[in-house]
Amino acid sequence: MQAVVNGIRMHWQEAGRGEPVLLVHGFPFDSSLWEPQLERLPRRWRWLAPDLRGFGRTEGGVGGGPYGMELFAEDLAALLEELGVTRAVVCGVSMGGYIAMAMVRSYPERVRALVLCDTKAGAETEQGKKGRAELAERVLAEGSSALVAGLLPRLLAERTRREQPELVQWLSGVMESVSPQTAARGLAGMAARADSTELLSRIAVPTLVLVGAEDVISGVAEAEGMAGGIPDGRIMVIPAAGHLPNLEQPPAFNRALVQFLEAID
Ligand code: MLT
Repeated sequence: MQAVVNGIRMHWQEAGRGEPVLLVHGFPFDSSLWEPQLERLPRRWRWLAPDLRGFGRTEGGVGGGPYGMELFAEDLAALLEELGVTRAVVCGVSMGGYIAMAMVRSYPERVRALVLCDTKAGAETEQGKKGRAELAERVLAEGSSALVAGLLPRLLAERTRREQPELVQWLSGVMESVSPQTAARGLAGMAARADSTELLSRIAVPTLVLVGAEDVISGVAEAEGMAGGIPDGRIMVIPAAGHLPNLEQPPAFNRALVQFLEAID
């Protein structure tokens, strides 16, 4: 599906009908990250999985500045408007979680409930900013295959790397297909993201914090802190998964998501 929203042509995938759930992918991926959900989740919800600005088949827009989390949130609010959706459950993994928190900040009326997966509330550390700037430089100089070397080793649980070589292969391919400009703009946007720590106590909707038990990027301790700071927050740890539990352990991830959606129904 596609439409012009917020000045760019945006693509999204869609399945089911019912209460809308917006699935927001992480960096540097696209809506294909949600295939195990789009294919297998019950059709009684309307699953909406957009390609974020610059990623997948969505246009990047003019200019070369950072893709701020607020800009992505603006695009998604415009997409909901275009679809006639007043409120959606917003489920974001990793960078998608930063964007979900930006939506709570800028468009709280649009957010029915939240699912924050393998993400962090804090702003970027100085060391993290430096690492992102270096990676962006490398990607612009050498191409997007530098993303694979820079990010992939830390994304997946050891067991996933051992038992699902085809997933590793597929993720490498998605990373290599991102344009270097998009990757650099996304890295700059994540480096500049707002600190959402204070926001947690003001999140007024039911929230599920999901995390892979072996996530080394935004781990269980981080997730526990977030869930504990959100008034109506709860946590679910997905065993044998790293930073991308929806791909690494789809049945457990899907079960947790459905259980949460049924509970808030
Ligand atoms: C992601 O998966 O979206 C990224 O790992 C997020 C990040 O680097 O902070």
